[in-house]
Amino acid sequence: MNRPTRRIGVLTGGGDCPGLNAVIRAVTKDALHHGIEVFGIEDGFLGLIEDRVRPLDDLAVSNILTQGGTILGSSNRANTSRMSVGTDAKGNIVYKDLTEACVITLETRGIDTLVVIGGDGTMSCAAPFVQRGIRVVGVPKTIDNDLWGSELTFGHMTAVEIATEALDRVHTTAASHHRALVVEVMGRNAGWIALSAGVASGSDVILIPEKPFDLDAVCEHVAIRSTKGKRFTIVCCAEGAYQMGGEQIVDRTDPTSPDPIRLGGIARWVSGRIEDCTGVESRHVVLGHVQRGGTPCATDRVLATLFGDASMDRILNQRYGRLVVWQHGAITDIPLQDAADKQRLVKPDDPMIAAARSVGTCFGDEP
Ligand code: F6P
Repeated sequence: MNRPTRRIGVLTGGGDCPGLNAVIRAVTKDALHHGIEVFGIEDGFLGLIEDRVRPLDDLAVSNILTQGGTILGSSNRANTSRMSVGTDAKGNIVYKDLTEACVITLETRGIDTLVVIGGDGTMSCAAPFVQRGIRVVGVPKTIDNDLWGSELTFGHMTAVEIATEALDRVHTTAASHHRALVVEVMGRNAGWIALSAGVASGSDVILIPEKPFDLDAVCEHVAIRSTKGKRFTIVCCAEGAYQMGGEQIVDRTDPTSPDPIRLGGIARWVSGRIEDCTGVESRHVVLGHVQRGGTPCATDRVLATLFGDASMDRILNQRYGRLVVWQHGAITDIPLQDAADKQRLVKPDDPMIAAARSVGTCFGDEP
């Protein structure tokens, strides 16, 4: 066996989500128990580039299990091998490979193993470090649940709970005012949040990016409900959903971010079209970052703790370059590089789609 790990560096990269602190806590407590030191790297890979690192002891991770966000901070702008570092005279963004700066931080701090908690973008950042022979173990997070190789990521179930509660709340006001209410949930190109929250709330229409919708079918569904005396409609709409033959609606682009597209605006558009086409008064709600904030639900706390423990198990057994994942109801691991730059999307034969259809939910492909 090689020299065992003596000092771990832990970082949280990309968009935050509930449960990150639960992983930091699990990793730190387990590592300290095994006599391994832990250093927290601030703001994801940015802290590694800028040498912003601090020791984590038992007290530092005490009482954080239930805390949302991340005590280490995060950044979704840090792409170590192609980091935007400013603009040239013509105003073009200048990119630089800053991997070497990260390696120097690791060496000067004596960090011999990295625990990288993040989504596909963070794993893409971590992959070159694995290729250089640096010891890395990945832990999957994202509210979107779209990380390739893991059937569940922590943060997702909390987002689904928040979205479901919001949908339940608009349900009552939609019924009182005989309106259509279109709720936009996050998820990027994946419809997992919309599908789960849509089914859980009994939404009448669910629109997901994996199934481009026909607006006429949606409007017909709203109209048919009215003829049956159901004078309101709840539409659960993923931010990435789009009309057949159309395109996703982009709210903003951030060229300094490795993933520059920020989706948003589809709920407003669908709501307007429903009102125009059916005469049913319509409103829209964009849930946005509410879905990423606050305390993690119990499932996410458990999953995050399991993932933290599993990552330490990989480190103690010197199984580096692995990403711990959830598959078939258990924790396992896959090569970390496998999850880089890939997405796990909803498949047409997902059982949730069939179950929703069986209770009359419209997916915008037929009324
Ligand atoms: O990936 C998580 C996520 O919340 C997506 O669902 C959403 O599209 C995106 O991040 C929002 O990014 P930002 O926090 O940069 O606005």
